[in-house]
Amino acid sequence: MIKEIDVKNKKVFVRVDFNIDLDKDGRILSDFRIRATIPTIQFLLKAGANKIILASHLGKPRNKEEELSLRPIAEYLGILLGRKINFLSDCIGDEIKKEIDKAAAGEIFLLENLRFHEEEEKNDDQFAKQLASLADVYVNDAFGVCHRANASVVAITKFLPSYAGLLLEKEIENLDKVKNNFTQSLILILGGVKISTKLPLIKKFYKRSYKILLGGGLANTVLKARGLNIGKSVFESELLSEAKKLDENIITPIDCLVGGSVDDKQARVVGVEGVGENDMILDIGPSSLDSFVDVIKGATTIIWNGPLGYFENAVFAKSTENIIKAISESQAFSVVGGGETLLALEKAKAFDKIGFVSTGGGAMLSYLSGEEMPGLKVLNQ
Ligand code: 3PG
Repeated sequence: MIKEIDVKNKKVFVRVDFNIDLDKDGRILSDFRIRATIPTIQFLLKAGANKIILASHLGKPRNKEEELSLRPIAEYLGILLGRKINFLSDCIGDEIKKEIDKAAAGEIFLLENLRFHEEEEKNDDQFAKQLASLADVYVNDAFGVCHRANASVVAITKFLPSYAGLLLEKEIENLDKVKNNFTQSLILILGGVKISTKLPLIKKFYKRSYKILLGGGLANTVLKARGLNIGKSVFESELLSEAKKLDENIITPIDCLVGGSVDDKQARVVGVEGVGENDMILDIGPSSLDSFVDVIKGATTIIWNGPLGYFENAVFAKSTENIIKAISESQAFSVVGGGETLLALEKAKAFDKIGFVSTGGGAMLSYLSGEEMPGLKVLNQ
């Protein structure tokens, strides 16, 4: 915990998760993950840290693509903090080290995308050692990437005293409230494209017969596994036999909104047994929505990850919008996470109506499923 350490006059390396959505012109679509790190930065400044060195990955670069540079994020963070953020064009090397060392005390730096070096994802010791050489102390404030054994998350802790940042602490504190909550009125709402990423969580809660509401592409896989025609809708063929094993505890849509493509200007409502060969299921239907909302009304704890329809198109956004409304109006403690889910919350301006919004997507699913998270394990040690 950083509150317990003395960072005065020390250079602090802070791993943050600025892996955010940018549009094709480099505009920031959701600044939630950036804003979430501000308490740790301000805490370190107040505690007299000599330099704060922020580092993150962005996307999955193959060749140092310009659009995956963190430069625009440095500018944006500077606006949020009301002070200059020094952007450095690499994350390791003598030049970078010199730049940091010669700057005045109290300066903040943001390093270039860590994944511009393939060693980052290989959890490479030498690369981690070079990162560590920039600082005296390591702080992990990147909950969103703690499920990855990356050099800046795991290997770096071999070379520096390592602590959890304030955001990381807050994530664990709030996720623990639902992770270890075994009341029958806990519900899980899962959407998004892939059932594969959510299966461990489904299995964990399935055993305890909580209500699990499925929408999005996930539900398509289950519907298909049950022998229903889903037309041209997305689904995961390799997960059909797993999906077949899921029965009455899993609540799937009874009707849906279909179109011929994601860009359609109009939707048709059909029962799940009436989907045609050329239809794409792009949202859950009105009757399903009503029953999902009824389940939400009876819940005391809600976990939600993944939109229920193709909400980027307003025609197919209705269920996601109404689920946000129902969660906002509910008295239940709610935990919401996932990149697309956050975009939907942003659109609905509903952040402050949710019990806890997690900065983690895959990390939230992994933590709640009880999987071991490499980034947390090294800090506990
Ligand atoms: C996320 O967005 O979930 C984290 O930043 C991890 O990103 P990754 O899935 O590209 O490793």
